[in-house]
This record gives sequence, C-alpha cells and structure tokens, in this order.
Amino acid sequence: MKALVLAGGKGTRLRPFTHSMPKQLIPVGNKPVLVHCLENIRDIGVTEAGVIVGDGHEQIRALVGDGAALGLSVTYLVQEAPLGLAHAVLTAREYLGGDDFVMYLGDNVLAGGIAEAAAEFRARRPDARLLLAKVADPRQYGVAELGPGGRVLSLAEKPERPRSDLAITGVYFFTPAVHAAVDRIRPSARGELEITDAVRDLLDRGHPVTAGEYRGYWRDTGSVDELLDCNRAVLDGVRPGLHGQVDAHSRIVGPVVVEPDARIVRSHITGPAVIGAAALVTDSRVGAYSAIGRGCTLTMAGIADSIVLDGASISEMSGLTRSLIGRGATVAGGAGGHSSRLLVGDDAGVEVTAS
Ligand code: G1P
Repeated sequence: MKALVLAGGKGTRLRPFTHSMPKQLIPVGNKPVLVHCLENIRDIGVTEAGVIVGDGHEQIRALVGDGAALGLSVTYLVQEAPLGLAHAVLTAREYLGGDDFVMYLGDNVLAGGIAEAAAEFRARRPDARLLLAKVADPRQYGVAELGPGGRVLSLAEKPERPRSDLAITGVYFFTPAVHAAVDRIRPSARGELEITDAVRDLLDRGHPVTAGEYRGYWRDTGSVDELLDCNRAVLDGVRPGLHGQVDAHSRIVGPVVVEPDARIVRSHITGPAVIGAAALVTDSRVGAYSAIGRGCTLTMAGIADSIVLDGASISEMSGLTRSLIGRGATVAGGAGGHSSRLLVGDDAGVEVTAS
C-alpha cells in the first residue's frame, strides 16, 4: 500500500498565515500538521508516500525532504491548480500504479492515529473505506449515511439537508478501482472534481464501500480556532520532559516539555505546554495549552491556550489567550501592556500601548 498526501490548496481562511506558508506547515503541539500526518502514515507500515504540492512546495520540500527522517520515501507530485481531491488522485495516477493507497488530506489532524481503519481496510479490502466523525454542522463536509456492518448507504458533498451527522474525515483507503470512478465523474458546482463523487460512483455501481466512526480526535485545520483546538488535543497527549534549563526561581506545573537549549528564567509554566528549542522565557507566565516555537523570546509575557511560531518575540504583554503569533513576529506592549487575543502574521510587528 502507498500513501497519497494532499498538501496543495490555498488555505484562504487562514490568511495572513498562509500568505507566507502552506497551511499544512502550521504547527500544532510544536510540530507541523503535515508531519503529524506523515507519522500516522508511517505508523501503519506504509513506506512510500506521494505528496501532492502546489504553491508553497519549496517550504514543504525543505521540511520533509526525501522523507527518510520520518521513515518514509517521499515523492513530490505537482498539481498545477487545486481542482479538487479527485483531481489530485488523477495527478498521482502514474505514481500510484496498481497499488492500494491511503489518501490523507495534509491539513487534517487525527490525534489517535489511523491504525484501526488501516487494519479494517487490509482485512476486507473494500474498494473504498472512509473514516467518519460526528460533527455539529455536517453541511460543511462530505456526509455519509452508515448502514449495518459498516456499509455506506449514501454519500453527499456539503449537502444542504444532510442525511446524518457523520462527516467524512480527510482519510480514505482505496483499491485501484477508484481510478475508473475518477474518470467517470464531472466537476461539481464549485468547479472541482470531488472525491465524494468518485466514491459515490463506486457505490452506485455496486462496489463495496465501507466506513467506520473514528474514535480519536479529528479536526480539519481550516481556521485559526480549529488549529487552536488541535493544538489542545495534541498537547493533551504530550510526554513531559525538561531538556533545557529551568532556573531555581521558576515553577513548572503539569506536563511540560522544555526542549533542548531552551531557558526558563523566573517564570511559571503550566502544562500541558511545550517550550521550543532555544527559546528564552523570562519573567513570564505561560499557561496551559501553549505551544511556544523554537527560538522564541518571551519577556514579561503572559500567554495561554495559544500557538507562537518559531522565532517570534513577545514582551511586556499579558493576558494573551487563543492567540496565534506568526514566525518571527514581534509583539510589544508598554509597561502594563495587556491584550486578550492577537492573530499576528509572520514577520509582523505589533505594538500595543496601555491606555
Ligand atoms: C474536503 C472533502 C469533504 C471532507 C473534508 C474533510 O472538503 O471534500 O468531503 O469532509 O475535506 O476535511 P474541503 O476541505 O475541500 O472543503
């Protein structure tokens, strides 16, 4: 079995962050979403992964390289334009050849891995196997109706009147039968070749299509709030470890990772939290569910439930929560600087003066 990882797309809902990086590279729990995805693929014993890239492919190649560090052999496949998930399968047809494959949307986080679904697929080898998850508003997703024995009864892409509350998550297992289905479908109203339509084509022709409800935590990281929720879920599973320096005037409470060469000086860190390598945290309070990137500088800062990307600096600013601070951004308050939520793009500078 091979893997097909989709890491193209524009990520318009995550601007300004996606002006300077592909959305799949935004970290949750200090690790890019795409790396979580590749690790889940490696963990089901797949070694060959085709990664579909579009704009921003240089940064993806720079991070993942040939995949060896992750235990994978990665081949990059360029999709000229984001014309849909089934178009990505078409783009990868030669690479996939006659192999079964798992297709994984590179902006999806499945915090519990995908081992159970892979085992189900391998045991019965239906032509398509989907992972489903209950959602509050299924209209934003592909929706499946599930029958006895995990058989899929119906499928619809972003239906106005959903027939169930089960969304199709971004992980699909296929046999090569899907290629003929991709050839038969036509672009949807949004102008894309929808994978949901290809799976429905298989279903309509009597091919076995099965699904199961995903038991772990799943989110599609299309928005800042979804990213922050994923960050919480990933940090909930963090294995604590103090690999940097924590001075005698600092307090660490709960599961906290302090990565190598990071320094914590006169600060309080409450886990679950991660402080990235070579970060410097001085006279600050870092609250639960914070992921502070590599080389960040926090001085007289107060932050919780937030993601701070590599190389950002925050000084004299307390009260930050549900915030996302971009790579190399600078956030400065004056004495008594206080703010509740900030979303700051890469390399931006923000000064907030106390009133
Ligand atoms: C795509 C699929 C949809 C699926 C979702 C999961 O939606 O078309 O069926 O539920 O991914 O993330 P899109 O992100 O293209 O809107």
